[in-house]
Amino acid sequence: MAEFIPVDPFDIVIFGGTGDLSKRKLIPALFHRFLDGQIDPSCRIIGVARSELTRDEFIALAKTACESALAQCKECRWDDFTALLEYIAMDVTSTGPSWDKLKGYLTNDGRPHVFYLATTPLIYIDICNALGEVGLNTSNARLVLEKPIGTDLASAKAINAGVGAVFEEKSIYRIDHYLGKETVQNLIVLRFANALLEPVWSRTAIDHVQITVAENLGLEGRADYYDRSGAVRDMVQNHLLQLLCLTAMEPPNSLDADDVRIEKIKVLKALKPYTAETVGHNTTRAQYAAGLIKGEKVASYKETLSSDVESKTETFVALKVKIQNGRWADVPFYLRTGKSMGDRRSSIMIQFKPTPHPLFDKADRVPNRLVMRLQPDEGMRLFMQIKEPGPGGMRLKYLPLDLSYAENFTVRYPDAYERLLMDIVRGNLALFMSRDEVEAAWRWVDQLLASWDEAGQPLETYAAGTQGPSQSAMLLDRDGREWWEQ
Ligand code: BG6
Repeated sequence: MAEFIPVDPFDIVIFGGTGDLSKRKLIPALFHRFLDGQIDPSCRIIGVARSELTRDEFIALAKTACESALAQCKECRWDDFTALLEYIAMDVTSTGPSWDKLKGYLTNDGRPHVFYLATTPLIYIDICNALGEVGLNTSNARLVLEKPIGTDLASAKAINAGVGAVFEEKSIYRIDHYLGKETVQNLIVLRFANALLEPVWSRTAIDHVQITVAENLGLEGRADYYDRSGAVRDMVQNHLLQLLCLTAMEPPNSLDADDVRIEKIKVLKALKPYTAETVGHNTTRAQYAAGLIKGEKVASYKETLSSDVESKTETFVALKVKIQNGRWADVPFYLRTGKSMGDRRSSIMIQFKPTPHPLFDKADRVPNRLVMRLQPDEGMRLFMQIKEPGPGGMRLKYLPLDLSYAENFTVRYPDAYERLLMDIVRGNLALFMSRDEVEAAWRWVDQLLASWDEAGQPLETYAAGTQGPSQSAMLLDRDGREWWEQ
């Protein structure tokens, strides 16, 4: 079993403690860290929400949330874990004695106090103001903000300014859970711990890059939020742009948060903005129609919404992105993401240029590809040409050097939230987004959305269970390329 270094004792308050994120991710993540001995028995985990639950009812809710973890562990020590749990029912948008009660629950020995805002962003500022008023914005406070941070640049700026008036930037942890994923972290190791890659990691050797985050799930009960967001705000502004940044950034001076953030912001600032004239040729937006996923009938996006108003929200987007700097000039980055697609598959595919001089048949001149598979089947494959054995002439075979995580490591992969929560307690900001980063990403996304509006970009359709609309394939076809579908 892997050894985990315990973190110092801490208290965590989860605002939105009975909500979806808390139940699906945060409580199970804390339980797993507890099982691995990282969480001290003196820690407090305090759920805060409007619902009038008793502590026992909150513990019952936590137990349901941890069902699958409980089914897998040998010695679960569930009672020991529940000793950490508390619950406060309160309306966080109003001030009053509940805030003093909350303050009273926290341990005052200089330990980190983590305030996790798993609520709608509309009340982030209210919560911060109340925390400030009751004096909980101390130097050991850590404020955690879930995405979406705003719906555009203006609203993101307003949230950042509002929380920034109460908490210092170095106490604010803006989560993008993709940065906590094992293979995303491995991308940093791959790039910067393997000397052979740096000389080929640029326009001199790379033809183009593809980043795909395909999901086979649909709205999962989040229709209201999703219909106001769409794929660009929900996935591109954060997860896909973060993946792009890690792939494209210059080597940072160190792995300290400031050094990594500086390099990521440079990439965001170098993204070529779309205009009404260029957006049609370089992007595709689409919404899923009814279809079949793994043999099961799936209703269309429109049918899933309970509203009668016709929705124009995109559930799929494909983009050709240019990075305007010396390393990446003329190297397109193709990004795509969508709901209700054929399978759940996220990868970064780096396609190298073909060999410059044709020694072999044209048909054999397939370029090298490096594929980082984020999920499922985490791992990395470098596709190369080798000679097929035998005396039948010079026959080439295109095969991967395969570094599968499952085959090389038998450990359980912690969920991204487990790592991120422990980093918050340790005060390690490297995997969290800075204010400038969030705003730079919105600035570019705002331009994309405005260009779509101005150009009247059509909303295409794709059948659920497919790889997206035909226009997505055409986006690459126009450049003589195609999506990597493995
Ligand atoms: C979330 C989005 O941030 O990421 C969801 O809001 C999406 O719509 C999810 O489904 C995908 O995360 P993962 O870890 O399942 O790939």
